Amino acid sequence: MSEEKEPIRVVISGAAGQIGYALIPLVAGGKTFGPNQPIILHLLDIPPAMKCLGGVVMEIEDCAYPLVRGIVATDSYEVAFDKVDWAILVGGFPRKKGMLRKDLLAKNASIYIETGKVLDRCASKDCHVLVVANPANTNANTLSMNTPSIPRGNITALTRLDMNRGAGILAKRLGAKPSDVTNVTIFGNHSKTQFPYIDRADINGTPIRTAINDDSFLDQGFITQVQNRGAEVIAARGFSSAMSAANAIKDHVHDWFHGTKPGQIVSMGVDSTGNPYGIADGLIYSFPVTIKNREWAIVGGFSLTDAQRTLMQTTEKELKEEKDEVSASSNL
Ligand code: LMR
Repeated sequence: MSEEKEPIRVVISGAAGQIGYALIPLVAGGKTFGPNQPIILHLLDIPPAMKCLGGVVMEIEDCAYPLVRGIVATDSYEVAFDKVDWAILVGGFPRKKGMLRKDLLAKNASIYIETGKVLDRCASKDCHVLVVANPANTNANTLSMNTPSIPRGNITALTRLDMNRGAGILAKRLGAKPSDVTNVTIFGNHSKTQFPYIDRADINGTPIRTAINDDSFLDQGFITQVQNRGAEVIAARGFSSAMSAANAIKDHVHDWFHGTKPGQIVSMGVDSTGNPYGIADGLIYSFPVTIKNREWAIVGGFSLTDAQRTLMQTTEKELKEEKDEVSASSNL
């Protein structure tokens, strides 16, 4: 009989929200860390959400998940981040009507400065962090500047949702299974400037550009569809995506924890420093990566046309501007 593994501590911030509600069953049910990895769930939210979070805790208990060895539900950063091994940060200040992007950046910058400081003090020194709250890449960068004792490579931002969206759109167009479409790549920011790249993607071994013989769709319509998908979901649902966001978080953390399969390339927002694509250092930029032993490595050598390079630079420029705005608002 194999010995039982030590439980790992996993914090989810914004745990009482819609993404939290869709994500907790995936994490607690073994879909992220695997069916043999016990976990202690740390659930963090703001004080007005505590009553709701209490209900979520009751439901987790009522699910009788075999892997859940403890639940900590709190509105205290110190308690929530105590000794955590993995942090999935969904909590942030949502964009309100009439709010300028600059104001959203500033509000979230102050949240992620504080989050970083407490995480640095309280979490495991090898804590692996996924930032989901928007602006995700810049929040991750702000956090990283405040976590000097956690390796910068351990701080990532979610672009797997965009990657999955790209695979879904291509599969639908081909009348194929989404799982047959592999290696769609997202470059840049999780925003409307992101660049979904398909020239390394294939369907059952056939390059996407061969399978879909329509350059105008692949170089324009497809890119716009992926870029606008989040806004379309908000317009239709009245809320930001939650089910698909939770599913993408599950995929991101699963692959980071277990490693990528041979030939599999995934997209993650990661430290751009020293990247092989000429993107400025010091950003959290989404690149194609492979993962081994919980360390990601950027896959270089993708061929890029001038037009594609321009798309990569447009999203880089937005990330630089976001970083500058955060610095201006917080003296970082
Ligand atoms: C999404 O991509 O669905 C969200 O990040 C959109 C948003 O602005 O909340």
